[in-house]
Amino acid sequence: MIYKRIIFTLLLICFCVLANAQNINIIPMPKKAELKNGFFTINEKTTIFYNDPQLEFLAGYTSATIKSLNKFQLAVKQGNGTQRNTQGINLIIDGKVRTAKEGYLLSVSSKEITIKSATSQGLFYGVQSFLQLIPINGDRKIPALEIADEPRFSWRGLLLDVSRHFFTIDEVKRLVDQMVIYKFNILQLHLTDDQGWRLEIKKLPNLTKVGAWRVPRTGLWWDRECPKDGEEASYGGFYIQEEIKDLVAYAAKRNVNILPEIDIPGHSLAAIASYPWLSSSKMTFKVNPGCKFYGIDDNTLCAGKESTFEFLNTVFTEVAELFPFEYIHIGGDECYKGFWKKCEDCRKRMNDNGLKDANELQSYFIKRLEKLLQEKGKKLMGWDEILEGGIAPNAALMSWRGMEGGIAAAKANHHVVMSPNDFAYLDLYQGDPTIEPPTYSLLRLNKVYAFEPVPEGVDSTFILGGQGNLWTESVPTFRQAEYMLWPRSFALAEIFWSPKSFRNWPDFISRTEVHLERLSQSDINYSRSFFDAIITPSKDGSGNLIIQLSTEIEELEIYYTFDNTYPDHHTPLYKKGEKLSIPKDADTFRVITYRNGQPIGKIITIPLVDLAKRVK
Ligand code: ACM
Repeated sequence: MIYKRIIFTLLLICFCVLANAQNINIIPMPKKAELKNGFFTINEKTTIFYNDPQLEFLAGYTSATIKSLNKFQLAVKQGNGTQRNTQGINLIIDGKVRTAKEGYLLSVSSKEITIKSATSQGLFYGVQSFLQLIPINGDRKIPALEIADEPRFSWRGLLLDVSRHFFTIDEVKRLVDQMVIYKFNILQLHLTDDQGWRLEIKKLPNLTKVGAWRVPRTGLWWDRECPKDGEEASYGGFYIQEEIKDLVAYAAKRNVNILPEIDIPGHSLAAIASYPWLSSSKMTFKVNPGCKFYGIDDNTLCAGKESTFEFLNTVFTEVAELFPFEYIHIGGDECYKGFWKKCEDCRKRMNDNGLKDANELQSYFIKRLEKLLQEKGKKLMGWDEILEGGIAPNAALMSWRGMEGGIAAAKANHHVVMSPNDFAYLDLYQGDPTIEPPTYSLLRLNKVYAFEPVPEGVDSTFILGGQGNLWTESVPTFRQAEYMLWPRSFALAEIFWSPKSFRNWPDFISRTEVHLERLSQSDINYSRSFFDAIITPSKDGSGNLIIQLSTEIEELEIYYTFDNTYPDHHTPLYKKGEKLSIPKDADTFRVITYRNGQPIGKIITIPLVDLAKRVK
């Protein structure tokens, strides 16, 4: 009997080792990856070798990251192009490597590790894949394998809204550090909005003296108290231009372009609070702290007065000098046009230019802006509202109200980035609203993973790629930003980089779990909401509430109670597909998920009256 047990245990250990070895735990999944027999073992003599002086930063970065992951201190050495280090890690620029621009080859054998690319960008991504293979548990072994990889899309973006809440340059750099692990290459900074102007414009000092500050408030966004007379505007901050230059250089070394967004003509209350002559109403307003104001305070730049365009020329001259990326994002979304309709200058502008409505006035505004940006050597990108009244001739479009705007723009031969709110808005909650920090609506990890940026019938050459957007109305800290970003941005990373045919939810989840441990080790916050139960209430034929339960991932057990006790493995176990009817006089439903006999999800507690309200 005892022998049987030993043999069984040994078999189990072998199976686990094999099962582990067969996984290539890389996110996003490489285009071609094949595990080989054996391991490369890191030892005291292992050296990181690079063949080209332009790789000096990358070699140091590789060494520092290995140190932070697993405490190994590896030496770094430069060679002369043809040399290599046959006992080490070789970073090699090689013009003969045939992949897309950001592609690379990674080879791990028992003797050496070689990462090759025709470009430094490709090599950077080869290094990221390699670093994901470094164990975080002190183990020195890296599995032998061959990888040939390249991205599906050239635009793999994330947006951070630094207006609704302010994040320091060091925090933005931390985001850059995290996003590059997963091969994102564009960071859009939403620098201006009604709740704060965050960029120093030297010729317009009030934008940051006044516009960067608002009265301090916490609590539910849009339910907060508006500023009171005489109240000090003490919450906020902004980036001085030197900080931006430093950030841009930091990001460039890591293959990330910073895309600045100056959101106009709407969403401009912070600018108008700084310079009241910018609005059509010419009234004075305060920077908004998250209270209701749309249609009351005038947050739209006047489209009639020439002084607005002189202001924009000043702003974009400085923006264009600060940000080397080819695009500037001008927002263009959700522009409230009520004050334009009452504005004499706007009416004159419409008459003079034969514009029949406010949409055409907005289109006039954006087209002028496009010319202004072109004079500065930049391309204009805007949210999908820039289609209204006619899109500017060369504008690129970022589609957020679903995919429709993106489809229309691509069909009219405009470049498009897909960031539809129903798949790519990272400000939405990721699990049951009763236990998630409140925001607008629901976007679970499994839905993000179902995002496809190229719609049927659209020429894919116009789809630059996709972007996940983290709006921060309900994200007051960087720690919470991390919670909203991960693991949903793992899903986006895979959608933007890996071939479409590679989508495999169970495999993605098993890699996600490995990567969450890596985030933990680096003290990066993330959400575990995909382990929680999904509660689906409905009504039966007699109008009685019934409840069905499910989970995003396979192989979880769900335990529940109606009797005001906490659920666990001694309370009822939900059977798949079962319809739970409500026991007489029950008032509260509670549920928890388990895996392999251990609790894994959070307890969700929800009054039945609230559950009943969810039934459409
Ligand atoms: C947006 O979410 N208003 C672009």
